[in-house]
Amino acid sequence: MPDETAKLQAVIDALLKVKGLLVEAYEPIHSQEHLWEVLEYPGLEKWFDKLNRDLWCLHHRILKRVFKLGGRPDGVTDDESAAFNKALSLLQGIHAACQEVYDAAEEADDYVTEGKLEDIQGDVEAWIVSARAKLAQIERLKEGFMEEQL
Ligand SMILES: [Fe+2]
Repeated sequence: MPDETAKLQAVIDALLKVKGLLVEAYEPIHSQEHLWEVLEYPGLEKWFDKLNRDLWCLHHRILKRVFKLGGRPDGVTDDESAAFNKALSLLQGIHAACQEVYDAAEEADDYVTEGKLEDIQGDVEAWIVSARAKLAQIERLKEGFMEEQL
């Protein structure tokens, strides 16, 4: 039986490798699509757009199989608080980076970027508020559960 488990783990590991390569490929292919867009090569843009969307879909299919087999990619957790705390910390990092762009754009009198960043940062802030609310909700549920145990 341990041999079967090891064989299954090898399948999961191989799937995770493919998943990693799909995620890695997505970003440069997506950026390439937008370069063709800017250079006004619609045929090339369309091909790269189709590829980057397909890479993302393939990644989903691989990921679902990993979970079906009992695999867990790095960075995921069964603990709700930990999951929301991680999301919150990632969002806060993005928010701080947005602030740097906003400050640099202000310094450069780049009002277009400033305006766009204000919108983007607003969306990130809404997610931060949502993550904090979820964490507070989890805490309240835990407290309620503990009171019931007393
Ligand atoms: Fe895009």
